[in-house]
Amino acid sequence: MAIGVNALAFVAVAQVLALAGVVMVLVWCIYFMGGLAWEAPKKSLIFNIHPVLMLIGLVIIGGEAIMTFKALPLKKEVKKIIHMVLHAIALVLGIIGIYAAFKFHNEESIVNLYSLHSWLGMGIIVLYGIQWIYGFLIFLFPGGSSAVRSESLPWHVILGLILFSLAVGNAVMGFLEKLVFLETYGLAKFGAEAYLVNFTAVVTVLYGVFVVFSVLSQPVVVVEEESAYTAL
Ligand code: HEM
Ligand code: HEM
Repeated sequence: MAIGVNALAFVAVAQVLALAGVVMVLVWCIYFMGGLAWEAPKKSLIFNIHPVLMLIGLVIIGGEAIMTFKALPLKKEVKKIIHMVLHAIALVLGIIGIYAAFKFHNEESIVNLYSLHSWLGMGIIVLYGIQWIYGFLIFLFPGGSSAVRSESLPWHVILGLILFSLAVGNAVMGFLEKLVFLETYGLAKFGAEAYLVNFTAVVTVLYGVFVVFSVLSQPVVVVEEESAYTAL
């Protein structure tokens, strides 16, 4: 079940959305919310690291990792390494981003893990770590037998897409949650900041959609493909 469109079209649109998302989340957290800091008397600056690293790390770099197989005209082995490294960066930034949210809560004496967003977030990061370790062991080192690899691949692709989509959805929920908190403390509902946060979430959803489209479409250049699966 593949779309008869070259992935390059989807990947190109995804790059524009990724750039827009990065700029928007940085403008929000630095210009509107006062900046980013690991140690600061103003604790909200520690929180600000959270949306920046979750969006740029888990969502955008995670999405770029997924698009490598369809977007790059390189040998499969090279793409596999790029895919693995980008997912490792996404995972590490995600873990640091979540740590920043905990650090902010602890230093402000706010309880941890009280929201649906945080519960889903913990589930997503743990499963992402498991998906990475399984992928590494089966597809890279030491590598499973060819039977295990071809059995695992469709599961890897489907579970990877589900996890990525959950990360996109949870990031959107995080934007909503933070905006509602800010509005409760007086932020204008139709002000510039509120529009910026909502549009950042819209861009995040669209980026997720284009990453999924890329997986369902035709690879840019087929170099000695011997994959056990064709696009879903
Ligand atoms: C995939 C992306 C994301 C994941 C996996 C994630 C995960 C988490 C986790 C695990 C916590 C709990 C921290 C604690 O209990 O101390 C948290 C808190 C929080 N996150 Fe995120 N987050 C993501 C993206 C975002 C984004 C983009 C925002 C936008 C502002 C955001 C806003 C918040 C807020 C306001 C809290 C504190 C309130 C709460 O615990 O629900 N998150 N996040
Ligand atoms: C060390 C870590 C990883 C390795 C070695 C690995 C390996 C692979 C391999 C060999 C493919 C098959 C490409 C093909 O034959 O067409 C693939 C595809 C894919 N992987 Fe991973 N993977 C890893 C981590 C992850 C993670 C953490 C996720 C998501 C959470 C993920 C999501 C995907 C998706 C969605 C595809 C389908 C891409 C497409 O066909 O366009 N992978 N991966």
